[in-house]
Amino acid sequence: MRLSKEPLFTAKVIQRRVKELADEITRDYGQQELVVLVTLKGAIMFAADLCRALSLPVHLDFVRAKSYRGTLTTGTVEIKVHPEVSLAGKHVLVVEDILDTGNTVAALFDRLSADNPASLTLCTLFDKPSRREIPVPKSYVGFTIDDHFVVGYGLDYEERYRELPAVYTLDGNPE
Ligand code: IMP
Ligand code: MG
Repeated sequence: MRLSKEPLFTAKVIQRRVKELADEITRDYGQQELVVLVTLKGAIMFAADLCRALSLPVHLDFVRAKSYRGTLTTGTVEIKVHPEVSLAGKHVLVVEDILDTGNTVAALFDRLSADNPASLTLCTLFDKPSRREIPVPKSYVGFTIDDHFVVGYGLDYEERYRELPAVYTLDGNPE
């Protein structure tokens, strides 16, 4: 597996898109408080930039759902970290790195909706709709991409590359 020479999305392009998403979210929620649930670990860079570009009160919390080994989905989703805040009656925005088969988000939304939030919405940096196995509610999407495995800006391949400021594709055969 090799990193592509050129980024698929440069840091500059990512930052511009994150600002657009934040403006859209700010417009949609008005001045209502938003519980931003960051999915560990992949979404931390995206969420950090997104939150700083929002102009509304944010309550930041974390959730961890694990469903991936290497580049292949396992099909099972385990919730490893639960939010500390009570979601009942709150507007909740789940911030994800990438929407692939949809299994992780579907499992996560199942659990989170049991807490009766006022609203539950997804904001994902990347979407790979061609890989979807399960329908996912309408979301804020940064970039729609083809079926590439992407790394950088929080996204990893076996815990590598998260620190890169740009996003690259991994070329070659996965495992
Ligand atoms: P899903 O359950 O198949 O939608 O998988 C979503 C999770 O798989 C994401 O939160 C990522 O952690 C991981 N994932 C899916 N595609 C990629 C990718 O291209 N690069 C890095 N991680 C990925
Ligand atoms: Mg991951």
